Amino acid sequence: MSTPSLIPTLPGAAYVDPAVFRTEQERIFEQMWFCAVRSADLDKPGAWRTVQVGRESVLISRTRKGGVRAFYNICRHRGVKLCLEEQGEAARSFQCPYHAWTYDFEGKLIAAPNLTKMPDIDRDEYGLVKVHVREYLGYVWVCLADEPPSFEADVMGAIEERLGDVHAIDGYDVANLSLGRRIRYDVKANWKLIVENFMECYHCATIHPELTEVLPEFADGLAAQYFVGHGAEFGEDVKGFTIDGSEGLDAIPGVGEDQDRRYYAITIKPTVFVNLVPDHVIIHRMFPMAVDRTVVECDWLYLPSVVESGKDVTASVELFHRVNQQDFDACERCQPAMGSRVYANGGVLVPSEHHIGAFHDWVQERLGEGAS
Ligand code: FES
Ligand SMILES: [Fe+2]
Repeated sequence: MSTPSLIPTLPGAAYVDPAVFRTEQERIFEQMWFCAVRSADLDKPGAWRTVQVGRESVLISRTRKGGVRAFYNICRHRGVKLCLEEQGEAARSFQCPYHAWTYDFEGKLIAAPNLTKMPDIDRDEYGLVKVHVREYLGYVWVCLADEPPSFEADVMGAIEERLGDVHAIDGYDVANLSLGRRIRYDVKANWKLIVENFMECYHCATIHPELTEVLPEFADGLAAQYFVGHGAEFGEDVKGFTIDGSEGLDAIPGVGEDQDRRYYAITIKPTVFVNLVPDHVIIHRMFPMAVDRTVVECDWLYLPSVVESGKDVTASVELFHRVNQQDFDACERCQPAMGSRVYANGGVLVPSEHHIGAFHDWVQERLGEGAS
């Protein structure tokens, strides 16, 4: 039997129906490992960030011993949100702004007005509720599930699936790179449109003139993600992964000869994209906020010596920043059409996009789990 050249996408409702989004929050974002903050952003004891994971606000902070803890950002007394801002630095403890219950950096309840007169309040039992944490690639990943899925299978497995070997990323030494630039995009589109767009390169020739100059094979519409272990090669005259193909920054020393002058893109479901090039690594973290809105935070990471020296990274950042704008514009143009009556049954995937079908199957499988 021959493979059909067109296969259907998800129906339009999958991108506009708040009930679908709610189920995704419940069964995807609140169950899987979620890449929340960059470890280096929690640079001293008491440094904290709050992050939206599914329907929950999560408080992530650095402990006195240098570890990382994550908690539901909810006071155990009467449930007020403990930290209201996106980031901050606590001097000694977290104090609730309502009745001043106070927690240490391990989440333990250490003080409250009249606490000593209320001996039945167990300070551990009424501590902040913990969330599972892992640090990997220089980021803090959290999981809200009671029993988290295997980090090795889900997160590291995605790298292995793409690169053919989980250690193929080791040479980039991602955890020890420094932040050269961070840009936040507020995209008026469903998170799945952004994943799908990242997975295919059928659109590259149309909307990414600068990228296809640097990676000529992308003009053929076949994404590097299509072939295990393949990295798209820089064009002959291209000196670096920059907006005009000019020289990049200092190469990361551990990057092997076979990975030199090549670009690799990895999708770690549900919300992370990684790009590897010889002199920098780009990490995208998505924060799905509503059925039609996704915040994407994008970090450009370089060798610490490059960032410390104050070298100009503009030409380097500009290439993928422009790619991001082109991609997110396209996603924002798709979003309103998803609710159209002519898209009720969805659209189609051409052969070079067939791997997106596997993503759709995965989404449907997750949403089906536990469905009554
Ligand atoms: S709600 Fe936090 S101390 Fe009362
Ligand atoms: Fe793109």
